[in-house]
Amino acid sequence: MTAPQWLRRPAGAAPRISFGADYNPEQWPREVWLEDVRLMREADVDVVSVGIFSWAKIQPTADEWRFEWLDEVLDLLHANGIGVDLATATASPPPWLTARHPEILPVNAQGETVWPGGRQHWRPTSPVFRRYSLALVDRIATRYADHPALVAWHVSNELGCHNVYDYSDDAARAFRDWLRERYTTIDALNHAWGTAFWSQQYADFAEILPPRLAATHPNPTQQLDFKRFSDDALRAYLRAERDVLRRHTPDVPVTTNFMIMGETKGMNYAGWPADVDFVSNDHYVLPGPQAQDELSFSANLTGNIAGGRPWFLMEHSTSAVNWQPVNVSKKPGELVRDSLTHVAHGADAVCFFQWRQSAAGAEKYHSAMVPHAGPDSAVFRSVTRLGATLRDLAPVAGAVREKAPAAIVFDWESWWAAEADSHPTNRINYRQEALDWYSAFLNLGIRADVVPHGAPLGEYALVVAPMLHMLSAAAAKELRTYAEAGGHLVTTYFSGVVDEHDHIWLGGYPGALRDLLGIRVEEFAPLLDAEIVRLDNGLTGTTWSERVDTADDVSALARYTSGDLAGYPAVTRRVADAGSAAYVSTRLGTAGLTRVLGDLAAAAGLASDLPASVRGQVELVVRRNGDARYAFLINRTARPVTVAGVAGRPLLGRVAGGVVELEPRGVAVLHCAPTPAP
Ligand code: GAL
Repeated sequence: MTAPQWLRRPAGAAPRISFGADYNPEQWPREVWLEDVRLMREADVDVVSVGIFSWAKIQPTADEWRFEWLDEVLDLLHANGIGVDLATATASPPPWLTARHPEILPVNAQGETVWPGGRQHWRPTSPVFRRYSLALVDRIATRYADHPALVAWHVSNELGCHNVYDYSDDAARAFRDWLRERYTTIDALNHAWGTAFWSQQYADFAEILPPRLAATHPNPTQQLDFKRFSDDALRAYLRAERDVLRRHTPDVPVTTNFMIMGETKGMNYAGWPADVDFVSNDHYVLPGPQAQDELSFSANLTGNIAGGRPWFLMEHSTSAVNWQPVNVSKKPGELVRDSLTHVAHGADAVCFFQWRQSAAGAEKYHSAMVPHAGPDSAVFRSVTRLGATLRDLAPVAGAVREKAPAAIVFDWESWWAAEADSHPTNRINYRQEALDWYSAFLNLGIRADVVPHGAPLGEYALVVAPMLHMLSAAAAKELRTYAEAGGHLVTTYFSGVVDEHDHIWLGGYPGALRDLLGIRVEEFAPLLDAEIVRLDNGLTGTTWSERVDTADDVSALARYTSGDLAGYPAVTRRVADAGSAAYVSTRLGTAGLTRVLGDLAAAAGLASDLPASVRGQVELVVRRNGDARYAFLINRTARPVTVAGVAGRPLLGRVAGGVVELEPRGVAVLHCAPTPAP
């Protein structure tokens, strides 16, 4: 039997956008549980994640098992019509386990032990940890396999959040096994790692260590492979828990919460969906001018990682978090807009961390659905409003994301490789560059999918691959095929520079893309912080510049006008058979990229989906269920915005005479698409 790809629901249950939270009843006395379920019903909550940090409560000593409290919680939730995404409780090992087996504790690159006291203090590769954790998973699965509240399994929690890089002896052993598998022979490894440099040649796999604290920069390919290995080790652990669960309940879907957000960099999530039945993601807003764009970018990437199918927003916050330097509360409208932006990009469940704000512990200042002030509060009122809104959006449940006309390619390996040490500059910010391009698309009102590297590109009229630093020969060929078949490719500085082993493509940069772009760069010219370069179209560049020599069939869309590069091309475009390949050689930032992208999109035949009057102020995303299309209009601003020329029946918001009035940070959802009125 194959597990379903969404929550297990009673036969005949009406489709809906699910709503809920992490629920941690172990922090509260029983009387509070009764109030909890009453309020959950009031807010229209239908799913909660339970047991995430309950290991010590379930197994207080090595030989004791206490399930009665959890039985009661699950029964209570079920009696109130609330489904349970039941955690395997393995995220944070209890003190008795680490006291008995300190060898499960991670070790950092400096050789320091990561002690208990926080959470997630376990080595992904520890056989001892795995023995205990899988025994716990087995017990939980045995006990709750047939519980009617169970709608999904939640493996661990945010795998790799704090323990992605472990440099222990267990990790060293597992790393060697992983390398043997990858390279077969030590000669192949020596070649890939370029060990002729600095006398690093290995005679045997047994000599290899993780890239622990070294006298100076450790071998770059060793560092890169350690990142790949660490990601794989977490996935292997995920599969180990999943397989125990599947043995007990082949018909219950298994998920785990990814962390596609902000600077979370260690997990290459492109591969993870293969290991779960449906994708879940956690997202927390990083305050700043691009906060809403970043949220949309992450949700968009999550939706595309999920293959366009609906996914589960497992955690976000009703208001402030507790782990930023300054934890700002959400502004009016943000709680709903944040939630609905995720829904627009394919989330069919909207959940928060957490249900009730903790009274004690490290997260007591983190917002929740029921704040310290209690239900008589603005936050809880917004929560119940959101519950009602999600009810109204039930027709959207199950709808897939409609493909956009353009795409941004996102590649975790290029992120790792581009930001490695010992580079031309340490000011490279891979994700920021990708996000700036995304903001440019939003500013122009052109829809773009954020897709993982390797996703099929053929259907996109325009593809931006920002800083695609690491390119195999095969991947470079695919980009060429895309462009020659009529696609319009755009790429930037520091793309196509190294192969999959982090070896330079020789003969002039960017070696892997030189012919396609029709350019050749002999030397990079990174900029100091205070330096800028000027372009003849009035834009300025920061961070990076370079002298670009072009082939005869390349046009310069902009040229440098300042410094030593004056007169040389800054932005180029070459017609490649039916398509084209363009290159941006400096960092232009959001405003600059909006200008450049406007020209490139026009050349690719792409027009905005939005009327000119609201371009840049509104994000448009479309989901589709068969013939039914649902257009989400999201006000990116803190001002009211009026969108004219709109056709459709509103599920959310008001349309009068073809005009939608969006409140500040407001969202409207229309059945059927708005008619573009450029
Ligand atoms: C997540 C985690 C939750 C909670 C939340 C706070 O990383 O999964 O348990 O700690 O952050 O923002």
